[in-house]
This record gives sequence, C-alpha cells and structure tokens, in this order.
Amino acid sequence: MQKINIGFITVSDRASRGEYEDLGGPAMQVWLKNALKNDWNPVARVIEDEQSLIEQTLIELADEFKCGLILTTGGTGPAKRDVTPEATAAVCDKILDGFAEQMRAVSLKYVPTAILSRQIAGTRGSSLIINLPGKPSAIGECLEAIFPAVPYCVDLIE
Ligand code: MTE
Repeated sequence: MQKINIGFITVSDRASRGEYEDLGGPAMQVWLKNALKNDWNPVARVIEDEQSLIEQTLIELADEFKCGLILTTGGTGPAKRDVTPEATAAVCDKILDGFAEQMRAVSLKYVPTAILSRQIAGTRGSSLIINLPGKPSAIGECLEAIFPAVPYCVDLIE
C-alpha cells in the first residue's frame, strides 16, 4: 500500500451531538497506526444515524478524498436508527461478503451478541468500505479478523 487517505466515520446520534465522547473514531485510528507500516492521512467524520448523510459522507470520502480504505463504526445493529449497512450497500459497486462473514464468525468467540451486527463491506470505485460495530472493543476484534486481506484488496482495486 502506498501513502493513501484513510477514512474514519463514526456513526452515532449521541457522539455527533456531543452528548457522548467519540471513542470509536480514535480507536480505529490507533488500531490502524499499529497495524500499518506505511504512512497514511486520516480523514475523520462524526455523523448522525441518517442514511442519506451516511451515504453522502461515504461518497465524499471515496470520490473526493480518494480514500483507499474507509472504516465506519456504529449503526450496524437491529435498532430502528441503525442504517449504516443500508447506506453502505447503497453506495457500493460490489459487496465483499467474506469480510462480514469472517468478522461475525470471529466476533462470536468474544460475545454472543455479535450475531446482531449487520455489518457489511464492499467497494466503491477504488475505495474499500468496511463497517465495524460501535463498541470500541469490537473495532480491534473485527479488524484483527480481516486485516490480513485488507492491504491486498486495496491494491487490487487501485
Ligand atoms: N462484535 C464484537 N466483536 N464485539 C462486540 O462487543 N457487539 C455486538 C455486535 N458485534 C460486539 C460485536 C452488539 S451488542 C451489537 S448491538 C452489534 O454489534 C451492533 O452494534 P452497533 O449498532 O453499535 O454497530
């Protein structure tokens, strides 16, 4: 992977209103810093659980900022306001089912409630988009499970 922009989107009504500290965004960045030797630029956003806003932000980070990788955290569960997977599916060209299958399978070893995450992954142009659950501990658990395939995938879609 060459020096690329990496997008970090925290999807949370409460964090976007400042009622709750965004722990997920920093947790994703710290994890990536430890995992990737190559230098990269972060592009971070904290937004509400609104499907159109999530779609717009994914498009902005993929098409304007040319992020090779975009991680989202939050909004993947069954609650009425959880729409991150729907927004991701709406903007992706291809869905990569294997990432979500692997993240859920590994997550089930940590918590039985992992089955509740509807997280997906896919590509939009030259961007790989991966949904992660909102709990900060889930971020490392999920990324650890799939990361061996991530730089290769980013290179393939470049
Ligand atoms: N996956 C991992 N690895 N660790 C977790 O703690 N929490 C689960 C699940 N996946 C969890 C996990 C729970 S409790 C929920 S409700 C769903 O993710 C959806 O979370 P989200 O709506 O915050 O995205």
